[in-house]
Amino acid sequence: MLVIINPTHEQTSIQAARIVANQIRSKPRSVLGLSTGKTPLGLYGELIRCHREEGLDFSGVTTFNLDEYVGIPRDHPQSFYLQIHRNFLDQINIKQENTHIPDGSSSDIEATCIEYEQAIRDSGGIDLQILGIGRTGHIGFNEPTSSLASRTRLKTLSDETIQDNRKIGEDIPAVAITMGIGSILDARQLLMLASGNSKTTAVAKAIEGPITSSVSASALQLHPNVTVLLDEAAAAGLTHRGYYDRVVEQTSKYSPERLGLE
Ligand code: GLP
Repeated sequence: MLVIINPTHEQTSIQAARIVANQIRSKPRSVLGLSTGKTPLGLYGELIRCHREEGLDFSGVTTFNLDEYVGIPRDHPQSFYLQIHRNFLDQINIKQENTHIPDGSSSDIEATCIEYEQAIRDSGGIDLQILGIGRTGHIGFNEPTSSLASRTRLKTLSDETIQDNRKIGEDIPAVAITMGIGSILDARQLLMLASGNSKTTAVAKAIEGPITSSVSASALQLHPNVTVLLDEAAAAGLTHRGYYDRVVEQTSKYSPERLGLE
């Protein structure tokens, strides 16, 4: 696991965007896994800038979103469909038929989940999966005690997650469709971003704690190609900080592409 700590989240967003842009340039038909939430907004903003100002071409790219609430229509203000379209997909030259988001308004959730897994397989699998982390240590909506082998399925949200994701004056559904931890670990590369002191404990448990279903992000330790990008506040609970910085220094000499430098 490569842990990169930047002074600010803005720097993290720019570095993450370089890593994603390099992936697209080296494989124009890349399959990207997308996450919603506040954390990746700067990354998406920077990719939109790269598209507009540097001609980063998304015409061959396919995307799969991690998760979606169940029981609200796609045009509901809380829907992840609306969020990812507004904040990213509608602002780049991606073909809409190549974008995939679990259908939370489906009348047959089980079939929808099976079809989603099949669509990921049919695309050739996810090359690079973007992840945030919830306060409970979840990735996607894989709440504590999710099986580390789980696939796309219906998941009940924890009280903390409902509280964190609710916007003022609005309720959110109590259930969601999410890619499983097993589905996420199938991606060839994982890029997890975290920012701010509300994530300090979850990040420390995910990176340095035991692998446990109580912290679903700890399953990332099982994956051979993970980059975690943090700001100082999110990294504050890590005990091997000096070592991570030395690894980054050596990586810049031997594998600069892993840092988005080439
Ligand atoms: C939600 C999403 C996660 C996301 C997390 C953190 O629960 N399902 O994919 O990583 O929130 O969100 P934020 O980045 O807003 O803190």
